[in-house]
Amino acid sequence: MTALARNLVIDTATTEFATDVVAGLTGTPKRLSPKYFYDSAGSELFERITELPEYYPTRREIEILNARVGDIAALIPAGAALVEFGSGSSTKTRLILSAAQSLGAYVPVDISAEFLQQQATGLRREYPNLPVLPVAADFAKPFDLPETTQAMTRAGFFPGSTIGNFEPHEAAAFLRHAGRILGAGAVFIVGVDLVKDTQVLQKAYNDAQGVTAKFNLNLLTRINRELGGKFDLAGFEHHAFFNRERSRIEMHLASLKRQRVRVAGECFEFRAGETIHTESSYKYSTETFGALARGAGWTPAAVWTDEDNYFSIHVLKCAG
Ligand code: AVJ
Repeated sequence: MTALARNLVIDTATTEFATDVVAGLTGTPKRLSPKYFYDSAGSELFERITELPEYYPTRREIEILNARVGDIAALIPAGAALVEFGSGSSTKTRLILSAAQSLGAYVPVDISAEFLQQQATGLRREYPNLPVLPVAADFAKPFDLPETTQAMTRAGFFPGSTIGNFEPHEAAAFLRHAGRILGAGAVFIVGVDLVKDTQVLQKAYNDAQGVTAKFNLNLLTRINRELGGKFDLAGFEHHAFFNRERSRIEMHLASLKRQRVRVAGECFEFRAGETIHTESSYKYSTETFGALARGAGWTPAAVWTDEDNYFSIHVLKCAG
């Protein structure tokens, strides 16, 4: 990319960030999108979260993948292109790539073009016979698959319960959108966190070391740095709790006092105790997720959980 192109990309992204932040802080209740957690500091904090004793989802999902990767691979059509939505460091993918011998290609889709290229280089070295065809795109928006995969059947991969960040109607819309991209005969492998004991859930988002609190507050640091925000981090506190009625963990940043904060040239007022809703993490049962998938044009073909029913991996088939 030329320096000019790079600056244009950064400017467009920053403008969108500014617009979203101003809109989110103008509304009632105040909210910010969890997609903005992941600057480089936020991505590192998230990596640390996945290693916390209280944060079970990553470990449980890897445990299920390890135990069931043979069954999962058997459901992937021969010669299929494996398309990963939001590929990151592709740790979980390697388990599938190693087990599914007859893949036609691996297509990691991620918003971060630079990171994607680095990861692709490593994967090509590890899997010399597998075409690795990265696509730099926002996986939640329409994108084109590489031309060489046009004739291949597709297998989608969406691990980590990232689908839990969507509102249920958005999750259904996303599953439909994925169905359009993956096409006829596709399968979709989706990791979904399960409803469980409130204490277990709440501890996973209120770890003793305070890493999740740092991850949440880093959003304000990012706004201060990138948008000239004036948030005083000592004036806000991490709140996370399970809303059982809506079956979701909610993360908020609570204002510890009445205060005014300038961001992107605008002034926002906070009451004492007023919160910014920064993330929802929906929890499903195998049944409620199966029903959501059916409603979005997919047929549940298999589902596996760990022994405590903490986490699930669904394999869906394109109904059409
Ligand atoms: C990456 C969206 C699956 O909801 O558990 C972890 C993000 N937030 N701790 C989740 C997260 C706080 C995570 N997801």
